[in-house]
Amino acid sequence: MRRLIATALLFLPLVLNAQRSETVLRDWVFNGRQTVSIPHDWAIYGPFDRSNDLQTVAVVQNGETEATEKTGRSGGLPWMGKGFYEYSLHVDKLPGRHWTLLFDGAMSEARVYVNGNFAGEWPYGYNSFHFDITDALNDGLNTIRVELENREQSSRWYPGAGLYRKVRLIETDIVHVPVWGVNVSTPHVSAAEATISVRTEMAGLAEGNMVTLETVLLDPSGREVARREDTRKLYPDLAVTQQFTVPDPALWSPDSPALYTARTIVKTGGRMHTDWNIAKWRNRFTVYAGSEIRDSVSTRFGIRSIEVRPEQGFFLNGQRTMFKGVCLHHDLGPLGAAVNRSAIRHQLEMLKDMGCNAIRTSHNMPAEELVELCDEMGFMLMVEPFDEWDVAKCENGYHRFWAEWAEKDMVNMLRHYRSHPSVVMWSIGNEVPSQWGQAGAETARRLVSICHREDPSRPVTCGMDQFDGVFADGFAAALDVPGFNYKPDRYLQARELLHQGVILGSETASTVSSRGVYHFPVAQRMDVQTPDHQSSSYDLEYCTWSNVPDVDFAADEDWPWMMGQFVWTGFDYLGEPSPYDTDAWPNHSSMFGIIDLASIPKDRYWLYRSVWNTSDATLHVLPHWTWPGREGKTTPVFVYTSWPSAELFVNGVSQGRREFGTSLLERHRLMWNEVIYEPGELKVVAYDASGAVADTRVVRTAGKPRALRCAVSRSGLSADGEDLAYVTVTVVDKNGNPVPVADNLVKIKVSGAGKFEAVANGDPTCLESFRTPQMHLFSGALNFIVRSAYAPGTINYEVSSRGLQKASGSITVRQ
Ligand code: GAL
Repeated sequence: MRRLIATALLFLPLVLNAQRSETVLRDWVFNGRQTVSIPHDWAIYGPFDRSNDLQTVAVVQNGETEATEKTGRSGGLPWMGKGFYEYSLHVDKLPGRHWTLLFDGAMSEARVYVNGNFAGEWPYGYNSFHFDITDALNDGLNTIRVELENREQSSRWYPGAGLYRKVRLIETDIVHVPVWGVNVSTPHVSAAEATISVRTEMAGLAEGNMVTLETVLLDPSGREVARREDTRKLYPDLAVTQQFTVPDPALWSPDSPALYTARTIVKTGGRMHTDWNIAKWRNRFTVYAGSEIRDSVSTRFGIRSIEVRPEQGFFLNGQRTMFKGVCLHHDLGPLGAAVNRSAIRHQLEMLKDMGCNAIRTSHNMPAEELVELCDEMGFMLMVEPFDEWDVAKCENGYHRFWAEWAEKDMVNMLRHYRSHPSVVMWSIGNEVPSQWGQAGAETARRLVSICHREDPSRPVTCGMDQFDGVFADGFAAALDVPGFNYKPDRYLQARELLHQGVILGSETASTVSSRGVYHFPVAQRMDVQTPDHQSSSYDLEYCTWSNVPDVDFAADEDWPWMMGQFVWTGFDYLGEPSPYDTDAWPNHSSMFGIIDLASIPKDRYWLYRSVWNTSDATLHVLPHWTWPGREGKTTPVFVYTSWPSAELFVNGVSQGRREFGTSLLERHRLMWNEVIYEPGELKVVAYDASGAVADTRVVRTAGKPRALRCAVSRSGLSADGEDLAYVTVTVVDKNGNPVPVADNLVKIKVSGAGKFEAVANGDPTCLESFRTPQMHLFSGALNFIVRSAYAPGTINYEVSSRGLQKASGSITVRQ
């Protein structure tokens, strides 16, 4: 007997670990030939070609009535067609165990087979889905096969292609918490205490089983703050709700993203449990013996309250909070759609520094990595499922699946993300053509009620652009929050017509610019196309339906019922090269981004930062000051700053001091419109409220390119095979001045504990491959991305260009 107890103690930790295992299925064979690591995007390797998904369409939502040829509309990359992935794995198929295959997303029309048997399908490429594959698995060797198909004319932007998000195999006891089975909400929150509600589903129980559900809440430091243990007689697949009170909660907010954990343990009870049997325990290591634990999972959550108050806007933890948000498509520039946590973190760090506090996942379900990082880093999310309902925007778009899949897609999205504190609002769609007519309003009501059924805790909105349509049949009235895309001139009217008492700028600005490119004369204009196929970085150009950022700043500042805005877009993305959304090859990517496709900020970054970042000062001057041939010509200078006034000097001569004014542009820009260009030094001196010098910036006319320079985003990476560093390459002249127009070809070498992953220069017309270690600079800069290996060591990189001094650097990779 003593020996038996000793053995039991020895095995206890193993027994606990054996309850649940999650394996990321990483290395797959693609198209029967090539082993690839997923996340994988088969199209991002190129080549670019104007014939890829060439669309002859009239973009009705942009006011077009006649079909014309559209090149690069979905990125000009070869994402269309079929592909398949296969994965072999060994399974010890012990009785009493259960296996779930969980896809974070598969692009698209996925059909999944296990050992040749059809296991399930999921058409929508952006959603997460899972199948129970217990019966289909063999004891021993198994093959999983995923077939995908992307049809031409199925997207308005670059969708990517393949298993571009994680795939996991989850092994549990037959009694288990199903995928997304724990739902944590915080129905009451105050500084003194919070009520936490945890609803836990349990699968695999037979009717009448006794089950014990133990839930422990841990605070951000891991200290236990509440616990409940409830033993119940259960019916199959029933859910149990437990309520907790947490005193002095650490509240989640963008400034302080405190995260708690709910630890769930499911036990079936002692003698009531007929499987208890020493022989089984010895042979199988199952959980039936001693512990009685059948499953355990951890769910991260935050304690925060959200409220929409009529006439007052959005309140987070009782504080009025404006959405200083950006819309993001899912692609990661030169990495394509293949999700990477480190790349998203890099994006979010830049947005955080800009003062951004919110993201709209336009126009589809986000990657889990984005949502988790928003929880951790403090961003509020508006999660959106669709760009299209039952009426087509694209010939082969989502409308084909609507009737059968819309509710299933909504339910997966809602269950997947409803416990995440960063998610503060659901959207039911973007600019759907169904905004006109009773049927559309009916659909809107149905989708809103699905949201409320699955998650009563969050308000529901929609990105609406058909202003008159949404009032006619009750579409806008069906929403908790009316969200308007590009209608600031009609917000007042909407506010009058609707009962909600608030307005959200669900999509704003769509200002266009190319980093480092400036066109003259400088004027606020729409739909400007120039022979260089670029847009001017004076931040005054926009589309026929959109406007400059200043209009939306003013709306947010002037109307107390505004909830804030989501700018189109935070980062440039592949596809939709407006205003070159015609037959304008080689344009293939957006110019809407505040930050370019290479993750390098455009001037607009500093405009938003000067208004949104209220804790760090901003002082930025544009344009660059290297203009051979412009001597004697008018060359306006703009300053984006958080200081109240500034003075501009050209070669030491004051051009005058400016303060912010009352006209639209003068509210947020200091402008010297009459400056005459002469080579030399442009200097701006900013003054604080007392008139003292607060900061200065100097831009000098550059000479010929002399040497390359590198700046790396991070000096240390983790040896996890997925961590990334971004290396920005620029060129300086003999005096060390950056050369803003340099377009030299740069060659990149990476060696050691990592590899070259991708390169981009932010030029929407550049057809060079993202995945070849060389590229021309665009406006004097490019970014290349280095990926860590699985072992620690040092990554060395070197960049070279004919006639220029090389630059190099190193990055430490730690275990
Ligand atoms: C909006 C649309 C976005 C994007 C944007 C470009 O109308 O919702 O997806 O197309 O226009 O300005």
